[in-house]
Amino acid sequence: MYRSQKLSLRYYTAAVALFGVMIVFGLLSALYYLYPSLLFNVFNFNMSKILHIDTLVIWLLMGFLGAVYWYLPKELGREVEGMWLAELMFWVFCAAVVVVAAVFVFVQYGAANEFSMWFINQGRKYVEAPRWAAIGIVVVMLVFAYNVIATCIKARKMTGIMWVLVLDLIPLLAVYLDAFPAVTNMSVDLYWWWWLVHMWVESTWEVLIGCVMALVLMDVMGTSRRIVETWLYIEVMLVLGAGILGLGHHYFWIGTPQYWLSIGGFFSALEPLPLLGMVVHAIYDAGTHRMKTNNQPAFWWITAEAFGNFIGAGIWGFMMTLPQINLFSHGTQWTVSHGHFAFYGAYVCGVIAVLYVAKQQVSGADVLGGRAWKWGFGLLNFGMVGMVMGLLLAGMAQAFYGRAMGGSTLMAFTTASENPWFVSGMYARMLFGVVFAAGYVVLVYDLLTSPRRVPALQAQPEPA
Ligand code: HEM
Ligand code: HEM
Ligand SMILES: [Fe+2]
Repeated sequence: MYRSQKLSLRYYTAAVALFGVMIVFGLLSALYYLYPSLLFNVFNFNMSKILHIDTLVIWLLMGFLGAVYWYLPKELGREVEGMWLAELMFWVFCAAVVVVAAVFVFVQYGAANEFSMWFINQGRKYVEAPRWAAIGIVVVMLVFAYNVIATCIKARKMTGIMWVLVLDLIPLLAVYLDAFPAVTNMSVDLYWWWWLVHMWVESTWEVLIGCVMALVLMDVMGTSRRIVETWLYIEVMLVLGAGILGLGHHYFWIGTPQYWLSIGGFFSALEPLPLLGMVVHAIYDAGTHRMKTNNQPAFWWITAEAFGNFIGAGIWGFMMTLPQINLFSHGTQWTVSHGHFAFYGAYVCGVIAVLYVAKQQVSGADVLGGRAWKWGFGLLNFGMVGMVMGLLLAGMAQAFYGRAMGGSTLMAFTTASENPWFVSGMYARMLFGVVFAAGYVVLVYDLLTSPRRVPALQAQPEPA
């Protein structure tokens, strides 16, 4: 095993641990909806939610870093350049996460001044980390970029996937710089902040996971490089074509010019296309290989990724992306429903697939199968779909009773929050959240236990 693959295992471990922390704070956040005065002024909803969504971003990033460190030496046929620096950065990254989390739990907030920006909280949703830690993340990502690019140069080799990955690192890093400036005009602030959030999840991360999926498909299904790279180019072209101006769907109601209604509406309606491309791609590959693979769990998680990405991001996003509908659905639990489904489908499922790829190599098993992974797969998917449906119900009740009928007043908001459809949606979310958490426990158990020996017959390669 390459040294960078050992580093990748460390990143995976940290990612899975933070995934657990994220679930804990997700469950706690959900509990406030049932008991609104829970831990009042001791630990309020806002801090719990910050910890939930910030750990989300961090563990997925760690999963991506792990995946790239895993595949880089395989792809280029040599050890990654600057490994000692990469290893150092891993510890810097972990230390920063622990310190920031401790500050969020114990200090929570500060005065509205520069000190708070530097040491407590920068206040931008999803990237709340204080400035020093945000600078730390930039350094970690710069070292990562150096590792990737220097390895390509030393190896004197570039594959199509590597080109896409390297070029994607530029916007990935550049938009993160958006987490820094302290703009006092709310519209201007949001205008730029969406460059970060939207461009990450709907463009640069989408391209990154496309690269990772291409590598996993070649690895697990033995798909030919020509096929995965062709699809990757098509997907990237469509993602960038639709995703960049699709940014407009966040500019509908924040004080930006009216033309964003048409631009955002049109381009984000095109956004599901690349995601559909990914589904077709996965089915095509599975079909040509008659669904034969030695790594069942990775295969099913890739398939879940393709469908989850299309349905959660594409369809759930499309539902509320036209301004005429968004007028009513904006900022309700409907949005939260889409947020959960999309992040889970597009990224969580993909990261779990690479975890199983690593498990197979570490355990030295010819075939990965057994029963536990199926339980993990079932519980996590069932839990997520249940949560998403509960949230959709609650969000539609808010859109209908609070917005369309009630006219968006504070009173209408309150009435909608007491509506039985809303309330039962919140209970459903809690319940399915527990199912999801159980799935997580099974997943961790399965990843940590060594696989049972499977008769060699199944391990034989398929006939050509
Ligand atoms: C993997 C891809 C995606 C992820 C992870 C994702 C995630 C999210 C999240 C977390 C939010 C809530 C942001 C907030 O207010 O805090 C959001 C909002 C939104 N997303 Fe996506 N999304 C994805 C793709 C898409 C696509 C493809 C579309 C359109 C077809 C879309 C349409 C929207 C719209 C219209 C909103 C604004 C909702 C509102 O008005 O409150 N998203 N997305
Ligand atoms: C046990 C499972 C989970 C529970 C109980 C849970 C609960 C919650 C709650 C209560 C919120 C706050 C919503 C609000 O502001 O009204 C939230 C937000 C969020 N969660 Fe989760 N969550 C869980 C799992 C996940 C997973 C697996 C993901 C990602 C794959 C995720 C991503 C998000 C995102 C992106 C937001 C922000 C949504 C927005 O403000 O539009 N959560 N979650
Ligand atoms: Fe967006």
